[in-house]
Amino acid sequence: MRSKLVAGNWKMHGSRAAIQNLLASLKAELPAEPGTDVAVFPPSLYVADALVALSGSPVAVGAQNVCDQAAQGAFTGEVSAEMLADVGCRYAIVGHSERRALYGESSAVVAVKVQRCLNAGVVPILCVGETDEEREAGRTLDVVAEQLDAVMQTVAVGELSSLVVAYEPVWAIGTGKTASPEQAQDVHAFIRQRIAGYSEKLAAGVRILYGGSVKAANAAELFSQADIDGGLVGGASLDAQEFSAICRAAE
Ligand code: 13P
Repeated sequence: MRSKLVAGNWKMHGSRAAIQNLLASLKAELPAEPGTDVAVFPPSLYVADALVALSGSPVAVGAQNVCDQAAQGAFTGEVSAEMLADVGCRYAIVGHSERRALYGESSAVVAVKVQRCLNAGVVPILCVGETDEEREAGRTLDVVAEQLDAVMQTVAVGELSSLVVAYEPVWAIGTGKTASPEQAQDVHAFIRQRIAGYSEKLAAGVRILYGGSVKAANAAELFSQADIDGGLVGGASLDAQEFSAICRAAE
């Protein structure tokens, strides 16, 4: 049985004061023992604040990105997976569509980032998903397969047991246009089946999150699908009440 995971990607939002408020509200809203795994992903500058505020709480902290190059070195502006592990980050989001589109991250680079996370003991949340144009052209499964295969062909299957995949259709991100539960389930089932081509054991255990305009009102129906193991939540994760309601929907 796969345990569900609800992850809040705060993207580049907030200020030190706003994030302190959000962290305090989250601690107040979430039960002491939520029936699901919960993690938040603040902008990297505020990760340390979040770790302090959430210490002793069941809410894990993760990073939104990780360096592909090395554990240490002359890589201005970057943060390594080893550094994330050092301060206590459990997860890192890898290959978010915003990074693929705006910062030119190729599937090959994303695969290296997954490997870096695993080497450092950080759980990678690998994001995959098609654009509106690609869906309209009937290429959804090809695009997702390419993004997934790049990782499966780079990292040894035996190292991937902690991997989390997030299916985030680009057309559903920040648009208020959620994939229907059936649309999402179809792609999630495809992802699991594709992974099964490499390892059936890995496919059975891998958690596949849905992301793209998840809110309290649609979370329960999405999370009830057979291959949807939780959510990667953007905008709605900036509101502690809404995010807590989404976490409850996953229980
Ligand atoms: P929204 O929930 O704001 O659509 O963002 C989804 C996302 O990109 C999470 O990583």
